[in-house]
Amino acid sequence: MKLGVNIDHIAVLREARRVNDPDIMDALSIVKRSGAEQITIHLREDRRHIQDSDAVNICHLSPLPINLESAIAPDVIDLIIKIKPHRVTLVPEKRQEVTTEGGLDIVSNFNELKKVIDKLHAHEIEVSLFIDPVEDILQTAKELEVEWLEFHTGKYANIYAMLNSNLRASHHTIQSLELPRKALNEMLKYELKNLELVALSAKNMGFCIAAGHGLNYHNVKDIVKIEAIEELNIGQSIIARSIFVGLQNAISEMRELLK
Ligand code: PXP
Repeated sequence: MKLGVNIDHIAVLREARRVNDPDIMDALSIVKRSGAEQITIHLREDRRHIQDSDAVNICHLSPLPINLESAIAPDVIDLIIKIKPHRVTLVPEKRQEVTTEGGLDIVSNFNELKKVIDKLHAHEIEVSLFIDPVEDILQTAKELEVEWLEFHTGKYANIYAMLNSNLRASHHTIQSLELPRKALNEMLKYELKNLELVALSAKNMGFCIAAGHGLNYHNVKDIVKIEAIEELNIGQSIIARSIFVGLQNAISEMRELLK
C-alpha cells in the first residue's frame, strides 16, 4: 500500500509564529528518503497553513508526485491549473472546522463539481474525490468521471479512539455519546467491513482507491488489510510522532506498517 504524507502540519507550526521556521521545503527530500510515495498538501481557502507560495514551490521542486487537496474554490482552482500538481483531491471545507469533517457531498454539488473536474482534466490533472464510504454515491462519482476516490476514515478512527481510551476521538458527535464497549466494538467492525465492501465495489467500477483521515500507528493496521485500497494519506499522526523521533523515522515506521 502506498503512503502519501500530508505535510500541512509543518506549515501549521510555522504559521503559529509567522516565520519561516520550520521550512516546509526541507520536508520534501526527507519524505522521499523515508520511502513514502507521495506528498499531500491542502491549500485551504482560509490559507490557515499552506500558502500559495508553498503550493507553487512544492509543486515545482518536489521529488515526489503532489496530491493537492482543495475545495471547489475558484481562486484555488485557478492557481492549481497554473502549478499543475499530479493530482487534485477535491474536499469539503468549512471555515470553522478544525480539520476536514466528513466527505464531499457529490450529489448536491454535482454540477459545480463537474465543471471543476472537466477544467482540471483539460489541464491533464487527475482528480480524486474525498467522500464517505457510501455505496449509494459511487454511481454519482462514476458520472463525474474522476480517476480516484479517497474514502474518509474519520468515523472509523474516532470509534477506534473511543475503544482505546489513551487515544482521543475528535468527532464531537460520537465523542459526546457514552457508548458501551460492546456497541463500540460492533460499530468498529461495521465501519471496517463497510469500508472494505465499498472500496471493493469502487475498485471494480474502475476507480483507484485511497483512504485517509485520523489514521495513526495503531488504527492503520486493520486498514492495511483492505486489498482494494492502494494508498493512504496520513498527516497528523506522522508529524506528531516526528516531534519525538524525527520526520524520517516517523515516516519510515509508518511505511513499515503499510508493507
Ligand atoms: N486525506 C484528506 C483528504 C484530508 O483532508 C486529510 C486531512 O488534511 C488527510 C487525508 C490526513 O488526515 P490526518 O491529518 O488526520 O492524517
